[in-house]
Amino acid sequence: MLRLVHTLVFLLPALFLAHSIKASAPKAAVYTGCKVPNTVALTFDDGPYINQTDISKMLVEKGAKGTFFVNGYNYECIYGKKVAARLQATYNAGHQICSHTWDHPDLTDLNATEIQAESDKIDVALQKILGITTQFIRPPYGSYNNMVRQVLSNKTFIIWDFDSGDSVGASVQESENAYDQAIAGNVTSLLALNHETEKTTVSDVLPYAINKLQAAGYNLVTVAECLGMAPYTSVEPLGQRDATWFCPEERSGD
Ligand SMILES: *[C@@H]1O[C@H](CO)[C@@H](O)[C@H](O)[C@H]1NC(C)=O
Ligand SMILES: *[C@@H]1O[C@H](CO)[C@@H](O)[C@H](O)[C@H]1NC(C)=O
Ligand SMILES: *[C@@H]1O[C@H](CO)[C@@H](O)[C@H](O)[C@H]1NC(C)=O
Ligand SMILES: *[C@@H]1O[C@H](CO)[C@@H](O)[C@H](O)[C@H]1NC(C)=O
Ligand SMILES: [Zn+2]
Repeated sequence: MLRLVHTLVFLLPALFLAHSIKASAPKAAVYTGCKVPNTVALTFDDGPYINQTDISKMLVEKGAKGTFFVNGYNYECIYGKKVAARLQATYNAGHQICSHTWDHPDLTDLNATEIQAESDKIDVALQKILGITTQFIRPPYGSYNNMVRQVLSNKTFIIWDFDSGDSVGASVQESENAYDQAIAGNVTSLLALNHETEKTTVSDVLPYAINKLQAAGYNLVTVAECLGMAPYTSVEPLGQRDATWFCPEERSGD
């Protein structure tokens, strides 16, 4: 008995350490703003959703580009026929597509295996649908810690330095005022958080912001462009639908 206790005393800390990550392990880089002067990166989270094409067209008409941080299964299943086709069209229009995890959890609530799966599942979907491997991920709620950065150490985390407030109850007027204030402050660049799932972002705030920002002389570019980095670690032709294009959440529901 004494010998067993003795063994456990030495074994337990060793077991624990084997499952934790060393503080010195590499961590994902985190960017909260753009690097290239005079750029604005308009970003749109939580899709793919019904108004993505409207956003894409609005930007293209103004010679602008946007960045979409998409989920695999949040508002819609990314593999849905219309949804996947819409995402391919957005990508083909020149916008940047990035990861926002599979189903939008707070990553700091998850263990290492779960964090990796959240990233891998959406990355696989983007590889299948768009042929790309994305370098960039925005952790949901902008929430991360050292463990999240270590598990996803070869990703680049993108946060923001400007929030339109659209997902936290800002009115159209408040969002527009926020853009006006940034412009009045003569900011060098903006990494702007918006949500493609908010109706008035699409119908009101976005057209307003595009006009005001361009009138003030900003270039509306992708996040990769505003950082001077490559958006993807590999680029292949668009994927073709096959039997693996489904969300397990939907299959199990029918
Ligand atoms: C992580 O969480 C999942 C689901 O809660 C669990 O099944 C798994 O054992 C956990 N893994 C580790 C290494 O703790
Ligand atoms: C991250 O590292 C893993 C394992 O080394 C590799 O398979 C994957 O392609 C890398 N991803 C990126 C985006 O570099
Ligand atoms: C805005 O900032 C730029 C440099 O960042 C400067 O050249 C310009 O004079 C500023 N304009 C105003 C109105 O302050
Ligand atoms: C958003 O999508 C809905 C449904 O297709 C459409 O009725 C609405 O006009 C769209 N909004 C904008 C601003 O394009
Ligand atoms: Zn989100």
